[in-house]
Amino acid sequence: MMFDSQDIPNPQVEDLSKEGKKFCVIGHPISHSKSPQLHEAGFEEMEIEASFEKVDVAPENLSEWIRNEFPNFGGAAVTIPHKETIRKFLDFETEAATKIGAVNTLFWKEEQMGGTNTDGIGFLRALQTEVLNLKKKRVLILGAGGAARAMIVALEAAEAQAALWNRTPEKAQKLAQEFEIGFVEELSEEAFGLFDVIVNATSVGLKEWKSVIPENFWEPHQVAFDAVYDPLETKFLSDAEAVGARTVTGDKMLVFQALEQFKLWHGIELEPEVMEMAFFTD
Ligand code: ATR
Repeated sequence: MMFDSQDIPNPQVEDLSKEGKKFCVIGHPISHSKSPQLHEAGFEEMEIEASFEKVDVAPENLSEWIRNEFPNFGGAAVTIPHKETIRKFLDFETEAATKIGAVNTLFWKEEQMGGTNTDGIGFLRALQTEVLNLKKKRVLILGAGGAARAMIVALEAAEAQAALWNRTPEKAQKLAQEFEIGFVEELSEEAFGLFDVIVNATSVGLKEWKSVIPENFWEPHQVAFDAVYDPLETKFLSDAEAVGARTVTGDKMLVFQALEQFKLWHGIELEPEVMEMAFFTD
């Protein structure tokens, strides 16, 4: 089970930080990040004395930040644009990070700086709130960016049958070949109807009322999963819901990947509701 963070030796809480329990999320820009509020809700729930801050790190300062600043922290979440470039500065990474080709979580293990990726397992756990057993389920991923990559790796571990569609077909084709999954060049209504689960891993729907999928394509037996969480109710999900299909909103993926980080850093499995509630507080 490569996605179970139990394959990462559980950190001793006292090893986590060299100077108290400080955590952070790094990115550029970083003001939009919801990581602090999710993790702070966990600290409060478990009565952990720790802080979680946003740190804006420009790409040209990443190497120096890792060397000089990260040792002050017990762990860090990593977001755009550092998820791939950060890999070369770490002492080791997990199999999940290698397969996905990106790191979204930094942690310490015996003074060594490690990187892992909780986006894949977060996606899987989020999807499993609606479809518990994904084995042999036909899953169509729309998009071929970083999010799609994490999803493909997770679906492979769950033994689902994944296929890819992307606006720029060449990118989907390349990715599909790399992971030996299906490739959909043109999305006809008939082809669409064959899928059990459809995942929006494009940015379409973000702050706009648009969907990649024509509204008349949806069928009641399908499950729609959107990675977009602003707004939570997207056109993609709304169209699916209108015909009676089940839906998973974008907050779930964010919350479940953060729950996996929490487990890794603190050795504690929080109830999802703790972070879900925090998602909705500004
Ligand atoms: P992430 O890291 O979140 O996956 P990304 O790497 O920027 O983000 O990928 C964005 C995805 O949204 C891509 O698959 C992109 O399609 P292209 O490869 O063709 O660029 C997709 N996307 C963005 N705008 C789109 C649009 N208007 N219609 C369809 N797909 C779109």
